[in-house]
Amino acid sequence: MTESTAPLRTGDMPVPEFRENGRAVLEWIASYLETVGDRPVLPSVRPGDILSLLPATLPEKPEPFDAMLADFDDLIVPGITHWNHPSFFAYFPSCASGPGILGEWLAAALGVNAMLWRTSPAATELERRVLEWLAGLVGLPASFQGILYDTASVSTLHAVAAAREACGIPVREQGLAGLRPLNLYTSELAHSSVEKAAIALGIGSSNLRKIPIDDLGRMDADALAAAISRDRSEGRVPFCVVATIGTTSITSVDPVREIAGLCRTENLWLHVDAAYAGAAAALPEMRDRFDGWEQADSIVLNPHKWLFTPMDCSAFFTRRPEILRAAFALVPEYLKSGEDEDNLMDYGVQLGRRFRALKLWFILRYFGREGIQSRVREHIRMARHFAGWVDEHPDFERVAPAPFGTVCFRAAPGGFTEETLDGLNRRLLESVNETGECFLSHTRHRGQFCLRLSVGNIRTEERHVHDAWVLIQHTFRKILESTPQAGIGENLSD
Ligand SMILES: Cc1ncc(COP(=O)(O)O)c(C=O)c1O
Repeated sequence: MTESTAPLRTGDMPVPEFRENGRAVLEWIASYLETVGDRPVLPSVRPGDILSLLPATLPEKPEPFDAMLADFDDLIVPGITHWNHPSFFAYFPSCASGPGILGEWLAAALGVNAMLWRTSPAATELERRVLEWLAGLVGLPASFQGILYDTASVSTLHAVAAAREACGIPVREQGLAGLRPLNLYTSELAHSSVEKAAIALGIGSSNLRKIPIDDLGRMDADALAAAISRDRSEGRVPFCVVATIGTTSITSVDPVREIAGLCRTENLWLHVDAAYAGAAAALPEMRDRFDGWEQADSIVLNPHKWLFTPMDCSAFFTRRPEILRAAFALVPEYLKSGEDEDNLMDYGVQLGRRFRALKLWFILRYFGREGIQSRVREHIRMARHFAGWVDEHPDFERVAPAPFGTVCFRAAPGGFTEETLDGLNRRLLESVNETGECFLSHTRHRGQFCLRLSVGNIRTEERHVHDAWVLIQHTFRKILESTPQAGIGENLSD
């Protein structure tokens, strides 16, 4: 056997090379941000297209960085949905602002794991301070302590786990076997993450009560009270209510103050899901929509939705951090530090954690309270304009109020059955999105298929919202012209 004479490659990318490549990446990002609005929002690829272009085997030999950057441009970017596009109006927009990108970059460079205080004191302490700022920005009292998780789904999972801990049943030690069933309550419009939490935590989806909603999509508090009392009378154990401010489908707002009163009387944990809408609480004039949320035991608000923070970043606030800690703290010998400090690993499932606070710190400092307020306020203003255009148009209608920056609407010219209208609106959505000029999503509300336009991207200006409206009308007229009932859409105009 002959020994290889090839030089052994060890060590990182040499710093001079890093500097040069880093400049190229920075330049790429800057040009991308300048031109993202000129790209199609949605890529025109089919499932498997990108995969088929990627080599099936990993490279044996080192490859030059320029080749990677070129492939990134040629193979990856054409398959990207541009969440940073100013005409991204689908779901709830999530975008990467300049300071957020730069903060993310620095966090990656430091590469710290903020599991323990000593594994990066500044990461732990900055997270505490930044979340105090964020709580102050949205008007929450100082009694709320914050922690960052990756997503709202994970924040809600932790809320439900804390609620389970708070109800005094020794689930942590003994599991759920043999216990009376625990009941969790939320509305029919709650995000699916609530049900996932019930599944993951062994509550079981059949023990999740989806309380009916009223005409405006709000949880019916009387029905909630009745469900709790029925469950108690059957020997079950109600333990938690998840209310929503800004439901995913239509952004409706549950009567949180009333629900909080009930939770107090019934001794139930109240978690408020404000993952999307929470950012609007930065505006004094929007605070009425958050009435009572300060009485919640926990709240989730996602900076990666409407606070210009690159994925991922979900802020979880609780007035009872000691319960969360009691639910999760578990310190093996190899993680004992012997110091009297707060270790973030004690507040959740995960051990290792990214330095997410850095990007949020940059964003809050770079824009400041005023800068954030003016941007969120502008988004709400633009959405109201759009809602006004829909309201004025004889062939379109809104299907729900628009309390934040999201408008749910549909084309509804007279003379069509509900079934046909569903089909027409579906085609409208597909055709608009196929143009690549903007991206809208849909929902079904009270049985009707409808479109959702959500304004929340930091790069969106009024002209983008206006162009989307013109495109929607124009596309719908073309669809109508090609349907057998042509002629019904004569009211449609550009
Ligand atoms: C109200 C609400 N809660 C929770 C979530 C889940 O968010 P995440 O993707 O951060 O888990 C969403 C997502 O849109 C949402 O709208």
